[in-house]
Amino acid sequence: MAWTVDLSGKVALVTGGATGIGYAIGSAFLEAGAAVVATARSDASLAACNPETEYGTMQLLKLDVTNDISIDAALEQIGRLDILVNNAGMVKRALEFQSENFADVINTNLMGVQRMAQHCLPKLALTRGCIINVASMWSYFGSRTAPGYTASKTGLVGLTRSLAHAWAEHGIRVNAIAPGWIATKMTQALREDQEQYEGIRSRIPMGEWGRPEDVAGTAVFLCSPAASYVTGALIPVDGGYSAA
Ligand SMILES: NC(=O)c1ccc[n+]([C@@H]2O[C@H](COP(=O)([O-])OP(=O)(O)OC[C@H]3O[C@@H](n4cnc5c(N)ncnc54)[C@H](OP(=O)(O)O)[C@@H]3O)[C@@H](O)[C@H]2O)c1
Repeated sequence: MAWTVDLSGKVALVTGGATGIGYAIGSAFLEAGAAVVATARSDASLAACNPETEYGTMQLLKLDVTNDISIDAALEQIGRLDILVNNAGMVKRALEFQSENFADVINTNLMGVQRMAQHCLPKLALTRGCIINVASMWSYFGSRTAPGYTASKTGLVGLTRSLAHAWAEHGIRVNAIAPGWIATKMTQALREDQEQYEGIRSRIPMGEWGRPEDVAGTAVFLCSPAASYVTGALIPVDGGYSAA
């Protein structure tokens, strides 16, 4: 088939890749033939992750996107890098109205991406690689419950566009995906509350919460030759939520 994506020979690093959306993206990259390094912040997530998939084995590394030393130590363990997926993220919801929690969330979700991009720039410039940033529906909407998360994901769109503009000269493409409501541990508490779960579900035009795998295909596309002229874009993967 002319349009089969073949990422063989490519190396991808996925932050927060031991769980949820990151793990699904890493698994899809393996299926497309890439080598995958999935990173986790916590020992618990590392220990719980099964790196073996039907299509190959992920390399697991510990990496905290808020810590330059941790990033350097992880990058020293990999050679070439073609694809960086900035997927690591956190939310503290109403606690984010307090400045220290607001700052924590910005430090992870926005500055963590800036840190990773800066540290990976030399490797990505060598391969003329690409970056995918995982944004959110809160890149489009305001949230009355999570101001730090919303500010971080809105800022991430500006960072994506800026890096796309700045690093085009290195041949590096930078794009973002905005997942809708996806069933992962980040949304577990919401899903356990039947009223919230159903309220969200009924507002999604396609009528169902998304699965982590639903996000992965767009990530594969953005790394593929089919997207070779796509940079600075934000692509919603949300069952129509942002269109309604
Ligand atoms: N689920 C949704 O509905 C949804 C919607 C839109 C966007 N997103 C975004 O999708 C991304 C993945 O989230 P998810 O839903 O798959 O939830 P998840 O399973 O909780 O994944 C979040 C990942 O980020 C990692 N992480 C948090 N802080 C980190 C740090 N300082 N350094 C390195 N890694 C860190 C976590 O590692 P530990 O487990 O070790 O803490 C975890 O693996 C996030 O950016 C999230 O904002 C999710």
